[in-house]
Amino acid sequence: MWPSCGWLVLDPSVELERTTTWETGAARSDDRARSIHVAVVDLYNEWLGTVLSAPASEAFLELFEQLREPTRVSELQDEFGDAAAAPIAELVRRGFVHGLAAPELVIQQLRDAWLALQPDDSPLEVDLDRDHEGDVAARARGRDVVLRCRAVPDDPTLRSLRERRRAGDPGARSLTIVSATVPTAPTMCALLFELGATLVLPETTWPHPAGAPPLATLHAQRVATLIELHTTWSQLTEDAARQCAAWIVEHRIGGLRLRTGADAASPPQDLAPLERALRILEDAVGDFGVIGFPTDHVITGQRIAPADPGRLDPVTRSLRVRYLRRRSQEIRALEDMVGPPPSSHADALLVDPATDVIPNDPSLLALRPGAIVADICCAAGRTTRRLAPHVAPNGQIIGIEKELLSIQIGRAIAAAEGVTNIQFRPGLAQRLPLADATVDAVVCDWSFNLFLEIGIADAALAEMTRILRPGGRLAIMQVLSLFQYDDLPSAVIYGAPQGINVTRGIDDAFARRSDLAIVLQKFWLNENRTAGHPTRWYRHAFVPRLVDPAAGANVGPGRRGMLCYSVVAERR
Ligand SMILES: C[S@@+](CC[C@H](N)C(=O)[O-])C[C@H]1O[C@@H](n2cnc3c(N)ncnc32)[C@H](O)[C@@H]1O
Repeated sequence: MWPSCGWLVLDPSVELERTTTWETGAARSDDRARSIHVAVVDLYNEWLGTVLSAPASEAFLELFEQLREPTRVSELQDEFGDAAAAPIAELVRRGFVHGLAAPELVIQQLRDAWLALQPDDSPLEVDLDRDHEGDVAARARGRDVVLRCRAVPDDPTLRSLRERRRAGDPGARSLTIVSATVPTAPTMCALLFELGATLVLPETTWPHPAGAPPLATLHAQRVATLIELHTTWSQLTEDAARQCAAWIVEHRIGGLRLRTGADAASPPQDLAPLERALRILEDAVGDFGVIGFPTDHVITGQRIAPADPGRLDPVTRSLRVRYLRRRSQEIRALEDMVGPPPSSHADALLVDPATDVIPNDPSLLALRPGAIVADICCAAGRTTRRLAPHVAPNGQIIGIEKELLSIQIGRAIAAAEGVTNIQFRPGLAQRLPLADATVDAVVCDWSFNLFLEIGIADAALAEMTRILRPGGRLAIMQVLSLFQYDDLPSAVIYGAPQGINVTRGIDDAFARRSDLAIVLQKFWLNENRTAGHPTRWYRHAFVPRLVDPAAGANVGPGRRGMLCYSVVAERR
């Protein structure tokens, strides 16, 4: 049944969902902020989760797109007919969509109310080529910082950020340097590396820079995590995409953003070749995005839209809907595996540090101060943070994760807890954004089951081995089963629904590598302290609301455990 109102619009609180709602801090002390926080969690858990497993999801995704701007009910009726009635009625019932009589005014009021609740989360932008006032490093604390310059200078700002970091002040939440040229001085590269900076090179020409590849030095220093290139839809051919992908892979650049659409006024008739070109880049690059496109977060419900999405040009809009259609199918296969990441508090409840086989036993990884460790599929950095003290003060743990929201939260938690020697980078396990033989140890916690499920186990293990120096150690930790002591038949056994034996899958993947010598294979038991409905345990454990009493826990008294398996090997 259609709601009887003139217009419909998505609640701005859903659009404006920010990472801050996930943090343990101030937002929750405010009742309204808390109810919005809970609403967003519900959207993920109970609405998007449901829709993703229902066949009607395509209509839903298009609707969702449409509703980001106020839409007349009669237009929706014309476009979607009865197919959209049920999803809309449900969204309205749950308070995610509002029916409005005076849209502009009410939307503005809703937006203002929500924005008033937000801490100032705007990035601190500084042009290093001009005189800038005050101590940038002091103002950078806890913020996303963007520094712009023609060439990365030997600037007091960067040195001051480093000094503060060395003194234990985590400083900026993230640091992006937008530069026309690539720094080549080894000291500068080392400085950027220590700061965990992301380098954006907007002037690099499409499909890749002419002449000598500029990133050789960065490659050696592992700084180049993300670049941004500009192109138009008509220049984005399959051939150009292939050239660009080859360049990205050759230089092991961690991520690519494409800014497109300057020729949007004359849209191509056939979108299929464009889609194929985008697919080539998506397959080749660890972290790929088109500015103005959704990412997989839209589909998993982790983040709905940028704060101000603006109006999309027709090509972007059509491609966006096609992308959502395709990806929702693919992501459905990973459902339950991409939940919102834990808060720091939830972490502590998950795995008992006293019985955890790897992060508290640095001798197994031969860790020492100064070592560089890669944590593959790090999510918000649970394991990453626990490893950090073992390589302090000069060592670094580099967390690689495909979900950008997890990375943002990981950075926020690390900053709040004063952990200064970890970095988070977007990337895929099957194509790691790190150079050959550059890390002293690699860990991969609770993710190998995913690799086995989607058929990338060999590729991921090959990548982990590639980045490991000879003599370095690699540890796979894997939860095999989650169970309740008084209800063993309902145990969750990873891989069972897919007919995969996870332990055997791990062993077989190691057996195929003659360059890895196994030093430890161990089953171990962890008794964790959360409880909930057994079949939804994983998702629930990752939703702060359910494990944080302050957020209204529904945690029961059941005694729970998890069976884990760890394999440690040394690279020959
Ligand atoms: C079960 S969580 C494990 C998180 C963390 N290692 C821990 O133990 O708390 C799996 C994580 O792997 C990420 N992930 C899944 N497939 C990935 C891939 N192919 N490349 C990079 N990250 C991936 C997911 O986004 C998720 O954050």
